[in-house]
Parts: sequence; structure tokens; C-alpha cells
Amino acid sequence: MPVGTQGTVKTVGSEDIEGLGFEQVLSNTYHLSLRPGADLVEQLGGLHRFMSWNGAILTDSGGYQVMSLSNTRKIDDQGVTFRSHLDGSLHYLPPERSIEIQGQLGVDISMCLDECPPYPCTRDEAANAMRRTHLWAPRNLAVRRETQAVFGIVQGGVHEDLRRESAEFISSLPFDGVAIGGVSVGEPTEMQYPVVEFTAPLLPADKARYLMGVGHPKDILHGVASGIDMFDCVLPTRMARHHALYTLDGRVNIRAKRWADHNGPVDEGSVFPQTERYSAAYMRHLFVAGEALGARLATLHNLAFYARLMREIREAIEQGTWPELAARYAQA
Ligand code: GUN
Repeated sequence: MPVGTQGTVKTVGSEDIEGLGFEQVLSNTYHLSLRPGADLVEQLGGLHRFMSWNGAILTDSGGYQVMSLSNTRKIDDQGVTFRSHLDGSLHYLPPERSIEIQGQLGVDISMCLDECPPYPCTRDEAANAMRRTHLWAPRNLAVRRETQAVFGIVQGGVHEDLRRESAEFISSLPFDGVAIGGVSVGEPTEMQYPVVEFTAPLLPADKARYLMGVGHPKDILHGVASGIDMFDCVLPTRMARHHALYTLDGRVNIRAKRWADHNGPVDEGSVFPQTERYSAAYMRHLFVAGEALGARLATLHNLAFYARLMREIREAIEQGTWPELAARYAQA
């Protein structure tokens, strides 16, 4: 899923995302409920209509964004209280309210309100965040609308026994899918991979398994090999705005001098219909000149790269060609 925090995948339109072949985008309860407000989006016919998006939408529940964006917040067993990072106004977000807002937005998949512990944290802090996530899980489910899918979230930090307890508890509840949260929160790859490898096989195989906030192409390949079905990540779009383009040989800085007279694509192996008419030299020029089109073209390139990665992953699974695929993306 491309990330469209504010109801927009930055710099591109819904028609672009459709053209790239994505079927679902991620958006955010926290941002949209503060601005323009869930009541207004509901009144205007829901988030799909508001952003003119014909695919599916998943929203994150808000707690994770509160912890990273609001500098005044309090979390207890009842819910999260925070001040808006926009105007300082005070808000109360219990699990019931998060699910209600996601219902008002009319999204296809709502995420449970959970507590994601920071990294690093003590074992007690990780255990406490997991306990609260479990306490809230049934409260999320109790208020869902009939049309609303709800995914549970497994926490437990880097501790195997906590991850097992959390995977077993969340899997025992009638969620429509299960996510692994609390990874990619600053921990090194050597700590992230074992958590994914250990936790993914504990999730129900007949439900969608979703790894939140991941990741680099190699992390996605590792996740799929461990049993994950869904991912969201800001990397392709955020990196694009920082003039970093994905290629099969790794990320390149398109603003670098070496592209100034490069009258062809940045990567012969990654030429996409959306951007093929523009040379690397032109894209560099746009960034150097501070032109908005630079960020847009880079975003289209990176999203096309990720869309192709996901398509080739599905093909490799169907055709039994995983080793060839892994080798193709080894440097990406
Ligand atoms: N996005 C990335 N990680 C997490 C997580 O642990 N919880 C939620 N709600 N969102 C996330």
C-alpha cells in the first residue's frame, strides 16, 4: 500500500495510483480526524469519494501517530489523550472512538487502536504496551460497523515469549486480518528479522497477515518469505521527495552531478510507462531548479518500482521462481 496520510499519496493523484496498478492505499485516522474532520468527510460521502479513489482504503488507528507527532499526550487503560500538533486542541481517543472515526471515513479496513512501545524500551514497557493492546482489542471489535473490516495488531517488542503470547491472543479474536506492529521502530535489521520470522507463522493462515510500516525492498522480500501478505511504507514516496530513486542496483541520488548529462533512464532495467519519456538529466534539472515536477516524477518512478516488485513477487510464488526473484532484487 502506498501511504496517503492526508488522503493523498503526496504529489500524485488517485488516477496515477490506479494507473500504477495499486489496489489499496493507507491513510491515517489521526491526521484526517484533526483536518478536515471525520464529520466533514462523512458528510461528503466518505474518504473514497473525497479523494476520488476507486480502490480499497486501510486506515491506521491513530495511537501510533499520536505517539510520534503530538508532544503532549497521555496514555492509560482507558485510551489516549493528546494535544493536536496543528493547533494544540485537546482530544481523547479511546479504542471505541478510533473505530467510530474509521467507520465515518468509510474505509474498507480499520486498524485496532494499539500501543506501540518505542525502541529501545525495557521488557516491562514492552509487556505493558502488549497488555494494554490486548485490553483494548475486544473494545475495538465491539463497536465495529457491519461493513467495516477490523484488523488486530500483535505487539511484544523484541521478546519471543511476549510475541508468542500476543500472536496467540490476537489470533483467537474474530478479527478479519492480523498485523504485526512494533517493528521498524528504529531497531537494527538483525533484531527486526527474527521478530518477523518468529511471529508471522503464528498468525492465522486463512486471514490476511500484515507487516506494518515495512519497508525496504529486501525487507518486503524477507517478510513475504516469512509468510506476510500486506505491507505499507512511506519509503518509496518519501525517498522520492528527497531525490532518491530506486533501481535494481540500489537507491541513487538523482540530484548528483553525474546525472547532469545522462540522456537516458536512470536504470535500464527499470523503465516505466509513467516516466519513460523523461531522461535522468531532466529529472536532475527539475530537482536542482526546485521544480515541483521533480518530486512527482520521482514518486511515480519509485511507486512503479514497488508495484513491479509486488507483482513479480506474486508471479514468483505462483511459478515457483522465488530464488531468481530474490537474486534479481538482491541489490535493490
Ligand atoms: N505503524 C507502524 N507500526 C505500527 C504499530 O505498531 N501500530 C500501529 N497502529 N501502526 C503502526
